[in-house]
Amino acid sequence: MPIHKTIVVTGAASGIGAATAQLLATQGAEVISVDLNQPAEPVGRFIRADLSDPASIQALVSALPTGIHGLANIAGVPPTRPAPQVLKVNLLGLKQLSLQLLPKLADGAAIVNLASLAGIGWPQAVHAIRASEDLGFDEVDAFCQAHAIEGARSYFFAKEALIAWTLQNRWTWRERGIRMNAVSPGPVDTPILGDFIETLGARAEEDMRVMDRPGRPADIAPVVAFLLSDAAGWIRGANIPADGGMHAKVLCDMNGL
Ligand SMILES: NC(=O)c1ccc[n+]([C@@H]2O[C@H](COP(=O)([O-])OP(=O)(O)OC[C@H]3O[C@@H](n4cnc5c(N)ncnc54)[C@H](O)[C@@H]3O)[C@@H](O)[C@H]2O)c1
Repeated sequence: MPIHKTIVVTGAASGIGAATAQLLATQGAEVISVDLNQPAEPVGRFIRADLSDPASIQALVSALPTGIHGLANIAGVPPTRPAPQVLKVNLLGLKQLSLQLLPKLADGAAIVNLASLAGIGWPQAVHAIRASEDLGFDEVDAFCQAHAIEGARSYFFAKEALIAWTLQNRWTWRERGIRMNAVSPGPVDTPILGDFIETLGARAEEDMRVMDRPGRPADIAPVVAFLLSDAAGWIRGANIPADGGMHAKVLCDMNGL
């Protein structure tokens, strides 16, 4: 389905972001690739930005044009990184970019957040999620200490809060027809898969055995592209698993099915 849209893709230098940028360009979109690192094969215009840094986010928003039809928030760091950095990139930076970009989004635009199966437990984290709602970049260290967010928990918490934020904003911008949704993969074979295996150990190996194989960027990119397209116009505040059935397995296991 050809799409004549301008779409900003963060994390476009690698993995799922790179696959999404390529697919969108193939479908006819004008892609603006954003990343901390220069992509080996940039798709469309490339803008370097550090999404852990509010000044860099502000500069990015200034550099972006008006009339943007889609924002794919895909940049992220794995659970092996220090907890404050995981929260800054995977949650605060993503939220800041989305909110600051709103005036430059066209009416009817779509925002897609790359969440994770790691966020499935968000209902159990509502207290900390609420406490993080207005968290500033300079408050992250104290927040992590206050809520015992250390090690891999930072990654799980960031994805839990991201899913909750996506659901909460189902109708926030509906007067302008702006939709927000999330995609939640299980383990995906990208450069950070090794970090997940290092952090989660046997559990990640077991997940991939149950799933038959790890996901591939090409399994995830079409789901993001669909949610960005007009065909997904009635999908608002959804968190779509793209994980070979892992989400369903976890829900069935949790509920004795
Ligand atoms: N790979 C998996 O198993 C998996 C599973 C579920 C969800 N995810 C999520 O998918 C998204 C993409 O991950 P991936 O597997 O493609 O990883 P990846 O490492 O291949 O790509 C992540 C990209 O984000 C960029 N990035 C990191 N920090 C940044 C920053 N501060 N500012 C700007 N860009 C930054 C990196 O440079 C990289 O190009 C992440 O949000 C990740 O949490 C991945």
